[in-house]
Amino acid sequence: MRAKIIKLEEVNSTNDYLKERCETLPNFSLVHAKKQTAGRGRFNRKWISEEGGLWFSILIRHKRPDKSFLLCFAAAATIVEVLEKVGVVAEVKWPNDVYVGEKKICGILTENVIFGELANTIIGIGLNVNNPVPLEKTTTIKKERVLDHNIDKILRTFVRSYKKRMRAFSKKNHSAILKDWARFWKERGTFVKRKTVKGIVQGDVLGIDGEGQLILMDCSEKVIVNEGDVV
Ligand code: BTN
Repeated sequence: MRAKIIKLEEVNSTNDYLKERCETLPNFSLVHAKKQTAGRGRFNRKWISEEGGLWFSILIRHKRPDKSFLLCFAAAATIVEVLEKVGVVAEVKWPNDVYVGEKKICGILTENVIFGELANTIIGIGLNVNNPVPLEKTTTIKKERVLDHNIDKILRTFVRSYKKRMRAFSKKNHSAILKDWARFWKERGTFVKRKTVKGIVQGDVLGIDGEGQLILMDCSEKVIVNEGDVV
């Protein structure tokens, strides 16, 4: 699997760039922009994308739309590993945010364009590197480690380790991806809250199921959560 890397000075959103071209671009195309003018987050939020951050998206074409969520879990685990290599200790928070303590350092937006049997999954990753701290309760690599960091090098490290995880996906080794993700997940056994489209859900974390859904125990009742945002 060879990544086709497209480098842009500026774009509206790297996810939109791939979405508009997903029929023609090869599998594992990656677009990286120095700046996004209309970066998007989950739940239709704006994603502040000033120069200095790592803003990129990858196109993965496959036949398991029901398993697309694994591509996102694999990306979150890879980001934690990449951060480890630059001396930043991070963790994943279900489903796919990366935090340093209580501060978010990376967000991932997964979108699918389906043509018949074929899914084009676009994994959009926003990692705060040398950019100004975008919001309260967020952080950057520079803030954690003081020095400026080489964005291209971080991207190369990401691609190398993400490819390894993609091999597990191609071999249908789906449980290995979840197991690997769980190595970077510290919420099991803790009390958490998530904002979902139906409101806040909360409870003690029992684990995740094979579909990547969060299993909570709230007042002796099992609650299964399939989407949500860290509160
Ligand atoms: C979130 O936590 O809400 C997800 C944020 C995802 C941001 C990235 S930056 C690169 C890609 N392009 C976008 O417009 N969004 C994603």
